[in-house]
Amino acid sequence: MTVSSDDDLEALRRIGRIVADTLEAMGRAIEPGITTAELDRIGREHLERAGARSAPEAVYGFPGATCISVNEEVAHGIPGDRRIAPGDLVNIDVSAEKDGYFSDTGASFAVPPVTRAVERLCRDGRRAMWTGLRQVGTGKPLAGIGRAVGAFAQKNGYTLVRNLASHGIGTSLHEEPTEIATWPDASERRIMTEGLVFTVEPFLSLGADYAESGEDDPWTLYSQPRALTVQYEHTVVATRNGPLVLTMPGQ
Ligand code: CO
Ligand code: CO
Repeated sequence: MTVSSDDDLEALRRIGRIVADTLEAMGRAIEPGITTAELDRIGREHLERAGARSAPEAVYGFPGATCISVNEEVAHGIPGDRRIAPGDLVNIDVSAEKDGYFSDTGASFAVPPVTRAVERLCRDGRRAMWTGLRQVGTGKPLAGIGRAVGAFAQKNGYTLVRNLASHGIGTSLHEEPTEIATWPDASERRIMTEGLVFTVEPFLSLGADYAESGEDDPWTLYSQPRALTVQYEHTVVATRNGPLVLTMPGQ
């Protein structure tokens, strides 16, 4: 969507804060022994208390309030009886709706003991996201995001998952502009218009180039080739002053 009033911006800020707070609460609850279903329940209760509803569940019938993907799973992992173990890499993606407005955020969390390689991957995954976010502003090319993230990944020896794109959001979970690449895309010609709302969510990896579905269920996506992968995601508005990030936790 395009922000066209203060009311739009206020409502987007509200749901942005809700998903960010939910993600933060779930991240704090991660510990060895907890199941992904228990983590999801914490997320669901957080959303419900705030008067919001899970977007993947409401929009796509996803079997969970949030997506929780562990290790070899890259995205859209289904909460269930899998227990978090020491050394796991856990991605949580929270998207939700309130009063007709949608927001989307995500982060990866490393459970101690954390290897140097995974610690660096997490730190650099966040840096990759901010590298993309810094390219956001009115009149700027959408291609700048993928160009900058691609350069960052290459310089630091990572791969990027190239079939999970960022997307417009606001009045629905996924809307125009769709398929915003967080990798270099020579065919991308679109320009960010004033007030455009979308996500920036690169998937930085120790070797994966794609995410592919598996045999066990129709949702979970796995790294291809198998390699640890992180995702960090914010919802952002393009403004004349640059990126306005909506998915910051409140206090
Ligand atoms: Co997301
Ligand atoms: Co998203």
